[in-house]
Amino acid sequence: MSELTERLQRTQNLSDEELMLLIEGGDDQEDLRRRADAVRREHYGTDVYTRGLIEFTNYCRNDCYYCGIRRSNTAAKRYRLSEEEILACCAQGYELDFRTFVLQGGEDGYFTDDRICSIVTKIRERYPDCAITLSLGEKERESLRRFRDAGANRYLLRHETADDEHYKKLHPAQLSLAHRKECLWNLKELGYQVGSGFMVGSPYQTTQNLVSDLRFLQELQPDMIGIGPYLTHKETPFREFPNGSMEQTLHMISILRLMFPYALLPATTALGTIHPRGREMGLQAGANVVMPNLSPTGVRKLYQLYENKICTGDEAAECRSCLSRRVASVGYQIVTDVGDVKRS
Ligand code: 5AD
Ligand code: FES
Repeated sequence: MSELTERLQRTQNLSDEELMLLIEGGDDQEDLRRRADAVRREHYGTDVYTRGLIEFTNYCRNDCYYCGIRRSNTAAKRYRLSEEEILACCAQGYELDFRTFVLQGGEDGYFTDDRICSIVTKIRERYPDCAITLSLGEKERESLRRFRDAGANRYLLRHETADDEHYKKLHPAQLSLAHRKECLWNLKELGYQVGSGFMVGSPYQTTQNLVSDLRFLQELQPDMIGIGPYLTHKETPFREFPNGSMEQTLHMISILRLMFPYALLPATTALGTIHPRGREMGLQAGANVVMPNLSPTGVRKLYQLYENKICTGDEAAECRSCLSRRVASVGYQIVTDVGDVKRS
């Protein structure tokens, strides 16, 4: 039975009821995966793009119930990288063939707009051939405009869940889905290449919620869609909830590939954490991006959104070669490329 899958591939769309069926495994899963891989090859061949992730601060003013670096986690040891340390990560990354730097951090008041602009300006001067991606959480339009003027060209902000009720179950009252969406629309208007996404198997998530996620993404038409399994962290209010499943995450990656043939879909660190070959399977399910860590080894263990995160003991160079091998083991190859989206 592959009728739904075939039609999703052909039209990039299905009704809500049909999507629910497909998400719940109503069609032949191996056929879905094979079609997703075929579509990915049509648009991107066997190329895999890399992004060098620099986790530059784990201070955060927010208190998301699922996240290990939430403000109320007093057990977390906090750190910030200096501007010099961030630039050193970029230098090392450039040597290792990275052409995109992702600056990711908690919502940390120390990093004022001036400080972010100073960092971005310097990276832009030194690496005119690279993409600069920011992942700093929700910012006001004026701040986003300043970062863009300083030379940032991409921004990652997962919507986390597109259902208002579900959003309220994952976040304290100060945070709203409306503001998060507003931020995403601002990013688009300002000319950023935008990445969004959600967790799979987060507490209270229903199949209907996943359909809402797909519908919101159809509206937003982001360049990148990052998804990974929810992974539990014992220093959060969600400590009793089970992890999301790898199978469902892989299944959702394949559905995303058929709905968004052009999209950049990362095989995420969370996927690599839930299974030793999770990222490889993610690539085989339709993903085409990997985002290894460039942060200094001394701080990697501290950026713990969830437990047992992989690669916390490895130097950037080790990660780079490990990943090359892993990607090659499933028949794809990492390319030295800024890795822009290919919209047909
Ligand atoms: N498990 C999996 N992913 C998580 N994230 C945050 N906390 C967790 C967790 N416990 C994801 C969120 C966020 C991204 C940076 O990491 O989706 O947007
Ligand atoms: Fe980091 Fe394998 S990707 S060690």
